Amino acid sequence: MADKQAKLDFGGNTFDFPVLEGATGPDVIDIRKLYGQTGAFTFDPGYKSTASCESALTYIDGNEGVLLHRGYPIGQLAEHSSFMETAYLLLNGELPQADELTDFNDTITRHTMLHDQLNKFYYGFRRDAHPMAIMCGVVGALSAFYHDSTDISDPEHRKISSHRLIAKMPTIAAMAYKYSIGQPFMQPDNSLSYTGNFLRMTFGVPAEPYEVIPAVERAMDRIFILHADHEQNASTSTVRLAGSSGANPFACMAAGIACLWGPAHGGANEAALNMLKEIGTPDRIPHYIERAKDKNDPFRLMGFGHRVYKNHDPRATVMQKTVREVFEALNVTDPVFETALQLEEMALNDDYFKEKKLFPNVDFYSGIILSAIGFPTTMFTALFALARTVGWVAQWNEMISDPAQVIGRPRQLYTGPTSRDYVPVNKR
Ligand code: ACO
Repeated sequence: MADKQAKLDFGGNTFDFPVLEGATGPDVIDIRKLYGQTGAFTFDPGYKSTASCESALTYIDGNEGVLLHRGYPIGQLAEHSSFMETAYLLLNGELPQADELTDFNDTITRHTMLHDQLNKFYYGFRRDAHPMAIMCGVVGALSAFYHDSTDISDPEHRKISSHRLIAKMPTIAAMAYKYSIGQPFMQPDNSLSYTGNFLRMTFGVPAEPYEVIPAVERAMDRIFILHADHEQNASTSTVRLAGSSGANPFACMAAGIACLWGPAHGGANEAALNMLKEIGTPDRIPHYIERAKDKNDPFRLMGFGHRVYKNHDPRATVMQKTVREVFEALNVTDPVFETALQLEEMALNDDYFKEKKLFPNVDFYSGIILSAIGFPTTMFTALFALARTVGWVAQWNEMISDPAQVIGRPRQLYTGPTSRDYVPVNKR
C-alpha cells in the first residue's frame, strides 16, 4: 500500500487510490482500479494529465525548462557528448566506458548498409515524394527483410533490430534525398563518424571525394542529440502503443514516423522556416504577431509554444547558439535568422505570449541551421525522425522489458446515438 492516498467522492461513496511517487516530478494517482471499483472512466483527451507508463529514460520539468536523459542535462550532453554516446546512454542507462563506446560505434557502423533489394524500393516512389512518405514506407518494409530479428520476446533480437534501426536510418534518409534530386545513392563509408557518414551520403557524389566540415559535423551531431528523445511525446507514445500489441519494431518505428510527420510535432521546423520566409522582413513581424493572437485566424507562430515547456525549451537555447557556429563555419549569413531573432524578442515581450507562457521551441531555430547546411525543408522532419529513432527504440525496449506491460487500449466518452433498429433503405 502506497503511503499517500487520493480520495474520490463519487456516487455517494468514497474511494481511495494509491499515489505513486516517481524519482522526481509530480505525484501520480494510480487509477488502474478506478473502473473496476467505481464503474467510471476518466476523460483526458490529449493525455494532458495522464501518465501512460513508467519510464526511467528522460525527465522533463516544463516549468523549469529542464530536460534530462538518464539524469544528465541536455545542455551538458549537447556540449560534451556525441550522438552515439547519447544513444548508448539512452539504450543502456549509463554513459559507456571508452571500450564500450568503441564497440557500440563499431556495431552501429557494421549495420549501416541496406539490403540490396531494399535499395530498389526507392524506384517505386515518385521523384517528388516527400522524404517522410519514403521513410514511412522503407522503414516499415525493413520488417520484410530482417526476419532474423523480429522475435520481440528475445532480448538479443530486440538488440539487433534496435542497432539496425539506428544504423540504417541515416542511409534511408540520405537515399530519400538523393532519389528526390536524381543523384546516385551513396553507399556508407564506415571510416567516418555516424554523422559524418550521413553528411557524405547526403551531399557527396561518387565522382569526387567528399570532405566533412568538422564544425558542420559537430552542429549536425548536436542537432541529433537535441532530438534524440523527449519523454512520452506523440510519436513516442505512438511507437509504444503500436508496440504494445506485439508488433515488430520496424512496423512500430514506421508508425512513429507517420505521427512525427504532422506540423504540430516534427513538421514544425519546416513550418517555422516557411513562416519566417513568408514574414520576410522584420517590419512585417507585428502583422504576424497580431494574426497569431487573433482567435478567428488559424495562424499560429510555428516554433512557438510547447505542451510541456512553459518557461523555456532548453533545446532552443543550444539551437540558437549553434546557428551562429554554423554561419561562422560556412561563412554565411541569412536574413531569416535576423527575422527570427526579432520575432522572438517581440513575441517574448508581448502580453499574449507572456500570459500563455509561449516560448520558442527546439524547432524555431533548427530549420535555419539545416537550411544553411544545405538541406531542403522537406528533409527537416526526416532528420528529426533519424535522431528520434534512438528514443523510440529505447522507449520501445523499455516497454517490452516491463513485466507490467499490457496492450494499450484507451476508453471513450460515447456521444453517438444509443441502440436503435436498422431501417431498410426503401423505408427511410
Ligand atoms: N501561436 C499562437 N498561439 C498559440 C501558440 C502559437 N504557436 N501555441 C499555443 N497558442 C495558444 C493557443 O491558441 C491557446 O490559446 P487559448 O488558451 O486562448 O485557447 C494556448 O496558447 C494554449 O495552446 P494549446 O494549443 O492548448 O497548447 P498545447 O500544449 O496543446 O499545444 C503546441 C502545444 C501544439 C506545440 C502549440 O503550442 C502549437 O501549435 N505550436 C506551434 C507548432 C509547433 O511549434 N510545434 C512544435 C512543438 S515541439 C516538437 O514537436 C518538437
